Amino acid sequence: MSEKIRIAIDGPAAAGKSTVAKKIARKLSIVYIDTGAMYRAFTLKAIECGVDLEDENSLVELLYETTITLKENGKEQIILLDGKDVTEAIRSQVVSNSVSLVAKHPLIREDMVERQRKLAENKSVVMDGRDIGTNVLPHAEVKIFLIASVEERAKRRYSENKRRGIASDLEQLKAELKERDNRDMNRETSPLIQAEDAIAIDTTELSIDQVVAEILNEVNLFLHKS
Ligand code: DC
Repeated sequence: MSEKIRIAIDGPAAAGKSTVAKKIARKLSIVYIDTGAMYRAFTLKAIECGVDLEDENSLVELLYETTITLKENGKEQIILLDGKDVTEAIRSQVVSNSVSLVAKHPLIREDMVERQRKLAENKSVVMDGRDIGTNVLPHAEVKIFLIASVEERAKRRYSENKRRGIASDLEQLKAELKERDNRDMNRETSPLIQAEDAIAIDTTELSIDQVVAEILNEVNLFLHKS
């Protein structure tokens, strides 16, 4: 693809953003940037260092001395935290339930957004998160907002956990997702909201391939318009 295209995919937790974004990146041979993984990696470090997750100043000092790298490793993307592979560790329950506490701090977001914009500079990218279309890449050529019912999202997380050999409770997953969405939607800095010019896709009844097809359709519309 010769033309530069930036695809922003936002939405609540477990709406299928990263699965879909990875497929789109592969189909279009463009870079995938998982911004949630960046917040997760830093949250893991903050927990390991014993920093109070409410203490914004200590957190930001720690962040300034932290490197987070997203690296393509054949078919998989791996996440390096200060050079160490944390791809699996950042998906743990404790990180999942703490990350929105860290991500609410304005100074943390400011630094992360700067890192994310740099990663996307002069490239075609698909980037997923919560504030990509509204804040990180407000001029993205294609903006998608993925939604799905909380029941469906909890079921997907449950199956994903099962595949990875992690036992979980459906009702508890539902409660945790609701709490995380609540924090992400109600924080003061860059809350999770649909950008005015984003296309909403409800994935509750759709397969991954159907969602991918809808997004590729939007990409083609853009490419033919320009
Ligand atoms: O997409 P995810 O579940 O891996 O994201 C983890 C958390 O990080 C999520 O609770 C909200 C936060 N996040 C954010 O605030 N902004 C982003 N651009 C991406 C993630």
